[in-house]
Amino acid sequence: MQKGNNILLTGGAGYIGSHTAVVLADAGYGVTLYDNFSNSSRSVIQNLQTITGQRFNLVEGDVRDTATLERALREHDIEAVIHFAGLKAVGESVEKPVEYFDNNVVGTVSLLKAMHCAGIRNLVFSSSATVYGQPHYLPIDESHPTSATNPYGRTKLHIEELLADLARSDSSQRILCLRYFNPVGAHESGLIGEDPNDIPNNLMPYIARVASGRLPHLNVFGDDYDTPDGTGVRDYIHVMDLADGHLAGLMHLQKSTGWQAINLGTGKGFSVLEMVRAFEQACGRPIPYQITDRRAGDIATCYAKADKAWQHLGWRAERTLEEMCTSAWRFTQRAVSSA
Ligand code: NAD
Ligand code: WQD
Repeated sequence: MQKGNNILLTGGAGYIGSHTAVVLADAGYGVTLYDNFSNSSRSVIQNLQTITGQRFNLVEGDVRDTATLERALREHDIEAVIHFAGLKAVGESVEKPVEYFDNNVVGTVSLLKAMHCAGIRNLVFSSSATVYGQPHYLPIDESHPTSATNPYGRTKLHIEELLADLARSDSSQRILCLRYFNPVGAHESGLIGEDPNDIPNNLMPYIARVASGRLPHLNVFGDDYDTPDGTGVRDYIHVMDLADGHLAGLMHLQKSTGWQAINLGTGKGFSVLEMVRAFEQACGRPIPYQITDRRAGDIATCYAKADKAWQHLGWRAERTLEEMCTSAWRFTQRAVSSA
């Protein structure tokens, strides 16, 4: 997609969508956010305008509402869609599988119908490293076998398969599935970031809550893994690097056809205790923690082979672990002081 084209971001008010909106607006794209605010706040829109000095179109709606979505695609003269909208909590998906399939899979079917009617064939989909299931080897490249270990992961896998079938059925489709590893951090302004409503499931927002005194200590889920310090190792990627990856993905769509899946990770893993130490450095205070039992379903180590993104998109992650932690801390402090 070229500069000046209009891009619709489903779930654009969410964590990754909002950071991507900044990068796209800064690069000269017209950005329309489509969100039902089920897991985000309307105040994000004002913050995006403050950060970029630009105006964003907002359509409040559910992706399962095909008619509203089609109208938004036509009215805003959309060239491509980035599909972030979805539910993402693994534990919740085990308890509410129907809700997850409805929101994620039915939502995607609705989006595809709306795009078809509006004549739009360019799509970037928010996929996840979760589609690799239990790692068979490391680092994980895109040819690694896919499988799912929970309903959330299964929705991502089903959507990827649906998109591959669609691309096989229609040679004019351009579809890119970006498989994110562990997005963390925030925009340098501290105005947008990740601040879940409930107690966080993910490591970094949990650490940030402990650092700001809103939770007493971190539970480290197991220290007996086969890793250097016994705690789980993951490929944490700065959300602004991830956002840049979407810009690169959109530019790539212009010269590609068919379906493709590409990892967005750094290629490097950090343990839970390394994350704790890095965050302590960033916030200048101790993060109390307790070692507890392993979390059901967790794996020891997961990190990406990130070469394909470099070869095909000309993108690679640039930001350091320190930048991930300092930006997350800046956002947390702002969120706490304005609450
Ligand atoms: P998020 O919850 O912050 O953002 C999702 C946004 O989608 C929210 O603003 C929410 O209100 C909106 N939304 C949800 N259901 C909707 C619906 N039916 N209609 C319209 N809007 C709806 O999550 P995020 O971390 O920004 O994740 C974005 C995407 O990336 C998700 O699809 C997620 O599965 C995927 N992903 C996230 C991670 C991660 O760790 N954050 C990792 C891999 C993949
Ligand atoms: C990271 C490490 C935990 C919390 C999840 C989803 C995955 C993807 C990214 C969407 C692990 C440990 C965590 C805590 C801890 N999301 N931990 N105490 O599990 O790698 O991936 O988010 O697609 O699908 O499964 O990320 O941040 O939850 O955990 O010790 O309170 O931190 O055991 O080793 P995970 P995470």
